[in-house]
Amino acid sequence: MGKKVTIRDIAKRANVSVTTVSQVLNGKGNRFSKSTCDKVFKLRDEMQYVPDFHARSLIMQGSVSTIGVLIPDLSEPFFGTFVEGVQKVAREQNVIPLVFSANRDPKLEKEYLQQMVSRAIDGLIIASARMTTDTIKQALGNLDIPFILFDRNNAQEGTRVQTDDFHGGQIAAQHLIDLGHKKMVYLSVDKDTENFQHRLSGFEKVLKDNGINFDESTDVLYSELSREGGEAAAKDVVASGATAVFCGNDDMAIGLLKGLRELDVRVPEDISVIGYDDISLDEYVYPRLTTVHQPIYDLGVGATEILLDRLNDKDVDEKVEKFPVHLVERESTARPAK
Ligand code: RIB
Repeated sequence: MGKKVTIRDIAKRANVSVTTVSQVLNGKGNRFSKSTCDKVFKLRDEMQYVPDFHARSLIMQGSVSTIGVLIPDLSEPFFGTFVEGVQKVAREQNVIPLVFSANRDPKLEKEYLQQMVSRAIDGLIIASARMTTDTIKQALGNLDIPFILFDRNNAQEGTRVQTDDFHGGQIAAQHLIDLGHKKMVYLSVDKDTENFQHRLSGFEKVLKDNGINFDESTDVLYSELSREGGEAAAKDVVASGATAVFCGNDDMAIGLLKGLRELDVRVPEDISVIGYDDISLDEYVYPRLTTVHQPIYDLGVGATEILLDRLNDKDVDEKVEKFPVHLVERESTARPAK
């Protein structure tokens, strides 16, 4: 493969300046003659010139920033909606978001983090169940790249966006108690995932405040963080004898609905199911899922806005933007039969 053609090569052949070529190719050629523009475009095609993003952003005096977005699993509706929020702000502020989905693989997370750093990204948004502020700072070394660690392992310090997982767990518990449930279980994931633990703590506190027994050793069930995991947990949920189950997120709850159907267990007649997130799929499953709403799109918008604020002014005050959660009652919860 020959040497990569640059705009300097085109300028030389066209006998014009590099700036002229850059402006003509970036749609700002109206100040040059038609013949100059035609000559530049003709040479661009003949020489098969492909813009080099980094060179381009340098020529444009670095006016286009790049942010790295590292998420656990893009196939999860939650992160798809989160990234839509990121992209909205990125488009408005002329920023390129490089999105990496690590499929919840810590090795891949680390590899992608290194890849982003080597591509000289200007800022980072990381949602991870395992990365901590320290592991990110290690990967960044002495590079002063602003980052936001959010969601699964909440960064308890520094600029961040946050929802109140503890309160979300309280909302779920209160809803089931108001319906009259006395025997409930929580379907969670491995202990690494801080925000799922916070949801459990809020849930457990309200049960105990209402005199309802809850023993983590028997009433917390674990599954893979996925629809398949929720489906596979159906047997354990039925065996628990609970009349209601609080799932750590909607993806697992939707899988559980399928697993319970396969066991001929009716929702909500035989058991109530409540999820967490309020992803768009909740409206399209049967029965439609009761859940705790997280403002997912707004979290993506908020995380990007506060990161870009820091990119534009490194001395801007640290900021914690909190987003409220609330109950969305649909048809998957009801009064217990017995
Ligand atoms: O899978 C989506 C879940 O993971 C959401 O509850 C979100 O908070 C993230 O932790």
